[in-house]
Amino acid sequence: MKILIIGGGNMGLTYARSFLRSKITTTDDLMLLEKSEEKAAQLKDMNIGSVYTKPDICLHKADLIILAVKPQDAPKLFAYIKPQVDDQQVYLSIMAGVKIETISKELGAQKIIRAMPNLPSQIGMGMTVFTSNDAVTRIELVMVQNLINTTGKSIYVENEDLINASTAISGSGPAYVFYFMDAMIKAAAELGFKDSESALLVSQTFKGAVDLYNKNNFSCADWIGKVASRGGTTQAAINMFTNLELQDDIKQGIHAAMDRAVELGQQKADENN
Ligand SMILES: NC(=O)c1ccc[n+]([C@@H]2O[C@H](COP(=O)([O-])OP(=O)(O)OC[C@H]3O[C@@H](n4cnc5c(N)ncnc54)[C@H](OP(=O)(O)O)[C@@H]3O)[C@@H](O)[C@H]2O)c1
Repeated sequence: MKILIIGGGNMGLTYARSFLRSKITTTDDLMLLEKSEEKAAQLKDMNIGSVYTKPDICLHKADLIILAVKPQDAPKLFAYIKPQVDDQQVYLSIMAGVKIETISKELGAQKIIRAMPNLPSQIGMGMTVFTSNDAVTRIELVMVQNLINTTGKSIYVENEDLINASTAISGSGPAYVFYFMDAMIKAAAELGFKDSESALLVSQTFKGAVDLYNKNNFSCADWIGKVASRGGTTQAAINMFTNLELQDDIKQGIHAAMDRAVELGQQKADENN
């Protein structure tokens, strides 16, 4: 299967590197399309496949095309490549907020998969939620999921609205974790640790807790119960968090992210009409 990645930025490069590292494809079957000659020259030096700056010499060769440009660059890209789009090609878009309906209308593609990866994809620890339209076959979906899984884990959803919901959970999620970590690092410094010690205390605590969670079937509440004893130190912190209604605040933040994802998606659809 010949793969063409359009946009050799953060995510395009993440995909190219992950596919090659996992040996799911080879440089012979991997193509990248970049806009500027300068960036294309940099990509060529990385030895990650054939690099092009014009779609007319590469698009027709591809079975799978990955759309990895910024959403604001989508309308221009769609208009540019539309004349060469083939009904049998599968298009995988990772562009935030660009709906399948828009891609179908503006690009004229038949087989469309839409995915929302997140930042840890860069290190093979990503979480991707994806969906597709009816024209994509089961075999094509499995092939694409195998490719996505080289960057971490994935789940398929039937309902495209859940792509926005995943943006609010796993897409933005790493930032929520960093926000919580930052508060703990600041508290550690206030309690007398050096900066480097505070960072290590907190990052290792997060890693340990997540690994414990993944290795067992206990819920978060179960684990809290295992750490906290009645009247103890952990319980003092949890009581304070509960009194401050911290969980409700976090949920409200996530709903705000979801509302914004819907709003941005609507703006993109309006721009394309
Ligand atoms: N970064 C993330 O963690 C993440 C997570 C989920 C989804 N996404 C989605 O992934 C997409 C890419 O994000 P990114 O962070 O990788 O962006 P990026 O680093 O800016 O990469 C996009 C690349 O596409 C190039 N490009 C723009 N128009 C093009 C065209 N017509 N033909 C070929 N190349 C073109 C850009 O070149 P110029 O710079 O010269 O314009 C740039 O090199 C976005 O739609 C974003 O919503 C990103």
